[in-house]
Amino acid sequence: MSAAKNRNFDDGYYRRFYGEDGVHDDDRINHLATAVHHFAAWWGTPITSVLDVGAGMGMWRDWYVNHHPEVKVRSTDISKYACETWGHELRDISTWKPRGQYDLVISHSVLQYLDNASFTQAIANLASATRWLLYLEIPTKWDYENIVDESSTDMQVYQRSAGWYRKVLSPHFQQVGAGLWTPHNGILMYELEAAKP
Ligand SMILES: C[S@@+](CC[C@H](N)C(=O)[O-])C[C@H]1O[C@@H](n2cnc3c(N)ncnc32)[C@H](O)[C@@H]1O
Repeated sequence: MSAAKNRNFDDGYYRRFYGEDGVHDDDRINHLATAVHHFAAWWGTPITSVLDVGAGMGMWRDWYVNHHPEVKVRSTDISKYACETWGHELRDISTWKPRGQYDLVISHSVLQYLDNASFTQAIANLASATRWLLYLEIPTKWDYENIVDESSTDMQVYQRSAGWYRKVLSPHFQQVGAGLWTPHNGILMYELEAAKP
């Protein structure tokens, strides 16, 4: 079991952080998913398959089902409650290596719950599953201290530096920006379009 500090991702958790003043909602995911989907098309790598890891209430999955029903979407979560309530496969990304690859892999606000060793394994598993793009959101220690709203954000997480995260990610991915990463054999980016690998 890799989830931070033995967290229980139950009904209370989702009500607390995804209620009225929660971290994000369908409306905000609509903006983000639209942008990511269209950026992929701009780069010439249209999205035909999606893996959402730690899907929670399933907002990304629902966006794809509603806007692009032709896209194959698979959603997973470590929480039995989330899987039963919102229809995901029960998987721990630190121990589950998906078979095959997906054009877009999503890990939205999930990996701050994993300890260092589990995080490193999870990134290797996500890398093996990513054909073109990984959308990754993980607040860093600096973000928790300077940006996030403590009243609506779960602070019982691992807080690590951006440098630490980049060190684990860089053997697998090139950072594109805005939460997007492409595998080293993924999208060929113009030099000023992405960070130097
Ligand atoms: C903050 S919620 C984010 C939910 C969703 N991705 C979103 O952004 O709306 C974190 C989710 O990560 C899941 N999670 C935590 N550790 C996990 C792991 N090791 N493998 C898969 N899911 C995990 C939790 O069960 C929870 O649903």
